[in-house]
Amino acid sequence: MRIIADPATLSTLPQQPGVLVPTMGALHEGHFELIRRARSEAGPEALVMVSIFVNPIQFDRPDDLAAYPRTMEEDLEKCRAEGVDLVFTPDADAVFFPDRSTKVIESALSDTLCGATRPGHFDGVCTIVLKLFNLLRPTAAVFGEKDYQQLAIIRRMVRDLNIPVEIIGHSTVREPDGLAMSSRNARLTAEQRADAPRIRQAMLAAAEESTPETILSTARQAIESPLNQIDYLELVDAETLETATDLTQPSLLATAVFYNSVRLIDNLLIPAR
Ligand code: PAF
Repeated sequence: MRIIADPATLSTLPQQPGVLVPTMGALHEGHFELIRRARSEAGPEALVMVSIFVNPIQFDRPDDLAAYPRTMEEDLEKCRAEGVDLVFTPDADAVFFPDRSTKVIESALSDTLCGATRPGHFDGVCTIVLKLFNLLRPTAAVFGEKDYQQLAIIRRMVRDLNIPVEIIGHSTVREPDGLAMSSRNARLTAEQRADAPRIRQAMLAAAEESTPETILSTARQAIESPLNQIDYLELVDAETLETATDLTQPSLLATAVFYNSVRLIDNLLIPAR
């Protein structure tokens, strides 16, 4: 397994087909599923590449950036065990020019859900993902569906800018109790961790309801607990991410929930009826 930190080294490598899994490290089973998916898409010939970079420009809160778990040694060990071919681990200084003045802005899907409460977040995501695509030149890249909005925005960016990378979405990987796997789960107290599966249970129960209003009210009631605070809870059209007014099109029930400063997200696709 090659570990490369210097972007300049990448341009000296022979051009080879490869599937990229972009990550911010603190790798867990959810990432390994993405890596295995990348291997099955790549086949034995193409490279499986993982980037590990905590991207400062997608964080809106300095405390969240500072608290983001960093476990590079373990991450590299696990990548090796998963048969990854190349890991890209740049420093922020090597990725961003101090006087940079260009960024990617997606302006239709980015303002709702996570974008509404995290201004600039998706500009930061799009900008780093495009930079990673340009540096690593993958043929395909795998993203988790837990970050549904991120996946939709990256698909839109790739379509709009004719970026020659196939985007592969992979279904959310969950703990046995239903909690979506996330690097942030490690920051929950035992009490919060025991409470957090209510998010998934609430969404499944709410999906049984027959109108957008009752879906939202059922979900809200079942998510709320003395330990958490809902950042947003919305039912949106699964394609446009605009508020769903009926259930005739596939819709997405999406939420972000704070347990103190730990922000967890989850979503559920509700088929058209
Ligand atoms: O989903 C993530 O971990 C990040 O948003 C990504 C795609 C690696 C960009 O920094």
